[in-house]
Amino acid sequence: MNPSIINLNDHERAAQAALGEAAWAYFSGGAADEITLQRNVAAWRNWGLAPRVLQNLSGGHTRCQLLGRVWPMPLLVAPMAYQRWAHREGEAGMALAAAAQGCGMVLSHQSSTPLAEVASLVVTDAERGPLWFQLYWQTDRAALLELVRQVESAGFEALVLTVDAPVNGVRDRERRWGMPLPPDARAVHWQAPTRSKGPGLCEGWADVAPAWADVDWLVQQTRLPVLLKGITHPLDAQQALAVGAKGVIVSNHGGRVLDTMPATAESLPVVVAAVRRQNAQALVLVDGGIRRGTDLFKALALGADAVLIGRPALYGLAHSGARGVAHVLRLLRDEFEAALALTGCPRIDDIGSDRLWPLETQT
Ligand SMILES: Cc1cc2nc3c(=O)[nH]c(=O)nc-3n(C[C@H](O)[C@H](O)[C@H](O)COP(=O)(O)O)c2cc1C
Repeated sequence: MNPSIINLNDHERAAQAALGEAAWAYFSGGAADEITLQRNVAAWRNWGLAPRVLQNLSGGHTRCQLLGRVWPMPLLVAPMAYQRWAHREGEAGMALAAAAQGCGMVLSHQSSTPLAEVASLVVTDAERGPLWFQLYWQTDRAALLELVRQVESAGFEALVLTVDAPVNGVRDRERRWGMPLPPDARAVHWQAPTRSKGPGLCEGWADVAPAWADVDWLVQQTRLPVLLKGITHPLDAQQALAVGAKGVIVSNHGGRVLDTMPATAESLPVVVAAVRRQNAQALVLVDGGIRRGTDLFKALALGADAVLIGRPALYGLAHSGARGVAHVLRLLRDEFEAALALTGCPRIDDIGSDRLWPLETQT
């Protein structure tokens, strides 16, 4: 690894230099004026930290227990499409790096590598984090069930249904550069549903969008826990639990879908309060704009059980394959450990909202 790369911002610059213009526009871009994209990053910075000194730090660690299993670290790589467009190692490199760093991975439904191949690389690794699969709704229920069975038998431990992108966001940068996806980077499992292209919202996509009854159905079809990704409204969080989801991921798709949504650091406490009122065991995860170990710490202090990172992992992949991803995750882990020690929190359970210091809002 280039020794001048010492933080996630350096990885971003190295990725931009490595990728062509169109790939850079796709991977880094957000919806419309990219207000939510920027706000996601800024909002974590609007919280300060309130350390306690002289705490007993001996025996400290980053382990946590979630969904009945011990995770080395409350950090996962978020689902992201077409990773072989970023680097030939693609999802395989991403999974190997995440496992090597004790982090989890959520494989995208739009993966450019077969799910069984990705799972076989890491599933038997006892030191890895969780391995989950992300789904977009498919109107062909038989095909969807067939995919769910493949996911179950490959050893994935949860399903993540993404619900915030029933239609494509308006991404200006992507529209400018187009999406010249190389043939070997195409999605191998996702099939575009049959749509009528007649009058209707968004070229018929809105007609094939899922509704709550579909989630209810899906939850009953699988032995895997189902989490809903893309929840930002407290009533949606409660409805998710009511239809049987084991948890929610507070996400605005990294600012890629509906611009001017609040940052996830702003949505998170509202969703946490709603979820905890309904079910103390349900999981709340969050993604969007996490770029520092202190951001991860703040997310946990605001009530999240774990955190996902998107673009930074892709940036590491783009310029150095699995080694780049491992470096990104290692940097975050080291920064997070420093944050734990310096705030006087030797274990994850010690992190509470008393370690947060609200700063004046700057967004
Ligand atoms: C290039 C790219 C592709 C993505 N593809 C998917 C996807 O296939 N499924 C999904 O649920 N989310 C997808 N996302 C959203 C991420 O899972 C995640 O919510 C977001 O990237 C988090 O924000 P961050 O990039 O600021 O960390 C994608 C994000 C990016 C940047």
